[in-house]
Amino acid sequence: MARVVACEAMEAIELGDLVQALNDESFDPAEEESFAAVAPLLKRLANNRHFLAEMAVAELKDRCHRQTLENRYSAQVLILHRATEKFFIRANFWPSERDSVLKASGTSPFFYHVPHDHNFSFLTVGYFGPGYWSEYYEYDYSRVVGLPGEKVDLTFVEKTRLETGKIMLYRAHRDVHDQLPPDDLSVSINIMEASNRLPFLSQYRFDVKRCEIAGILTHTSSEALLALAANHDGANSRDLVESFAAHHPCDRIQFAAIRELAGSAADADQGLETLARGAASGNAFVAGMSRREMEKLQANRSWIEGSRPREKRPELSPAAAECRDNCPASEASSLDIRPQAC
Ligand SMILES: [Fe+2]
Repeated sequence: MARVVACEAMEAIELGDLVQALNDESFDPAEEESFAAVAPLLKRLANNRHFLAEMAVAELKDRCHRQTLENRYSAQVLILHRATEKFFIRANFWPSERDSVLKASGTSPFFYHVPHDHNFSFLTVGYFGPGYWSEYYEYDYSRVVGLPGEKVDLTFVEKTRLETGKIMLYRAHRDVHDQLPPDDLSVSINIMEASNRLPFLSQYRFDVKRCEIAGILTHTSSEALLALAANHDGANSRDLVESFAAHHPCDRIQFAAIRELAGSAADADQGLETLARGAASGNAFVAGMSRREMEKLQANRSWIEGSRPREKRPELSPAAAECRDNCPASEASSLDIRPQAC
């Protein structure tokens, strides 16, 4: 399970003291021992019973300006510090089943009952309340290809909770937890590993009963935009997708490029040819996903080929064409999505 770091520090520090220490070059959140070594500092910050409420009030006075700029999460998270590429600090609010926000929103926004690992490491401390529960597992990332439905040797460790003052180090690609609501509203504070490489590393959702990967939680903008680029004739977009399909260092993005090339092919045979090249890849993930896509295409081939060809779009009137050409949202124009202002 996530590593419990015993820490008896009693004195309290300010957030700025913690940030100053973490800015030291010797701190490397990608190294387990380096991360564990800063646990006493996080414990001392947790001993400060005023700073979080004071920061929350300051945010309110500033109309949450900083959260608007820096918070990529939902309102459950309060960003406390984000300045370097190496780490950031946040507070998380964990409602219990009795809290109205959970009754209104359900469990999904809080990731309860969604067993998952993390593609980053983080150090956490219980700051307030009895703490959220988790059922903890471990697995060997090096033995996993990452295919949805793939069997994984998940080892159950224990069920425990993040009590106030308790510090745990969640290790990237190793610790899995099925997070459950606390018995009462709780707050935790995290030091999060940050790095530009994280979007290219996959975080998984698990089916712990079947011991399987249930899905990949990491998605980048690139994967979504490849679908557009593969179907666009201009701006060397097809060349770009071909390049991603052949060489992208992230296997998830490489497969997405192959899939979109196949999806935009003139017919099923050409699509299958593209996918066959992916299936022959030396990368097990790209090969496995390409084979699955081939099976899906084969299974749906008669339906695809029997579907009606796309209707030719009607020509725009001269006035509409002028509006399109002059619209500053040129990308929208090229996709024939007409901006509201037009
Ligand atoms: Fe988690």
